[in-house]
Amino acid sequence: GLPGRVTIWEVGARDGLQNEQTVVPVEVKAEFLDRLADAGLTVLEATSFVSPKWVPQLADAEELLARLKPREGVKYPVLVPNERGLERALAAGRTDIAIFASATETFAHRNLNSTVDGQFERFEPVVARALDAGVRVRGYLSMCFGDPWEGAVDVDRVVRVSKRLLALGCFQLSLGDTIGVATPGQVERLLGALGDAGIGPGSLAVHFHDTYGQALSNTLAALRQGVSTVDSSAGGLGGCPYAESATGNLATEDLIWMLDGLGIEHGVDLGALVETSVWIAGRLGRPSPSRVVRALAK
Ligand code: HMG
Ligand code: MG
Repeated sequence: GLPGRVTIWEVGARDGLQNEQTVVPVEVKAEFLDRLADAGLTVLEATSFVSPKWVPQLADAEELLARLKPREGVKYPVLVPNERGLERALAAGRTDIAIFASATETFAHRNLNSTVDGQFERFEPVVARALDAGVRVRGYLSMCFGDPWEGAVDVDRVVRVSKRLLALGCFQLSLGDTIGVATPGQVERLLGALGDAGIGPGSLAVHFHDTYGQALSNTLAALRQGVSTVDSSAGGLGGCPYAESATGNLATEDLIWMLDGLGIEHGVDLGALVETSVWIAGRLGRPSPSRVVRALAK
């Protein structure tokens, strides 16, 4: 059955803004995050401690985090690609990080300059040190359904890599459809295979991009299988600079509209969120692709 409550893992400031052509000023990012928290979102992925040569859009991570006032009950997880990233995150007083791996060789190379095995060698000491320091670690797995260079991704391969990622000590695994090609039947098959391998919905989250307009249908399929953490981005911002043809994430507003209809709790004020997405769209000079934002925007 469907969960009674869903935790929304808001990735707009990270997955969204990492993909902008221009660098968004740090004060705009800080205001964006404040507005999202005001709207009731409690998990706000804020930025990444990655190489500024690879992702110049997020080179201001330290400065951004220093501007955020701690808020009761609000978490600001950050992405970390290596030990250097972890050091930066610890120096910035972070308590929640996410590592990110790929199910495919091509994307492990393009996104991390590594291999599927190599990324585990790199992440093992990162997670061990983070856990030692009392930091909570989420694991992302990219290309769980399709890869722009390798095509369809085999379910068994995704299950194998998922097990390895959780075995490092991640409290949760977020299954990424990085390029937005998945369809609901595939989601059901993958969640079924993960369940058979002992990985139940309680340790999973879903992360859908909306390239082919399937993100919301895919999310419903995952909710029906008991998943209760969903990644989305305000206004549908997003993409991945190292994944060809990836567009924005599932829009948080589209998700909320569906959750409201299903009577599933989420704790977010939809009106305040739509206003925020309209505001950031103005800053970026482009309207939000979210259907719900367009329908509700005044
Ligand atoms: P590399 O070039 O192999 O690493 O990149 P390197 O060790 O040779 O370092 C290159 C330069 O970066 C060096 O500087 C390092 O010091 C520096 P130089 O000596 O040339 O002046 N450097 C760093 N600087 C700051 N912080 C660091 C850091 N590490 C190295 N942490 C590396 C390897 C992992 C660094 C690189 O590939 C990288 O940063 N990749 C990140 C890519 C990224 O952020 N992608 C987007 C996030 S993933 C995503 O969006 C998918 C997701 O949404 C889920 C889904 O949709 O599927 C999560
Ligand atoms: Mg993503």
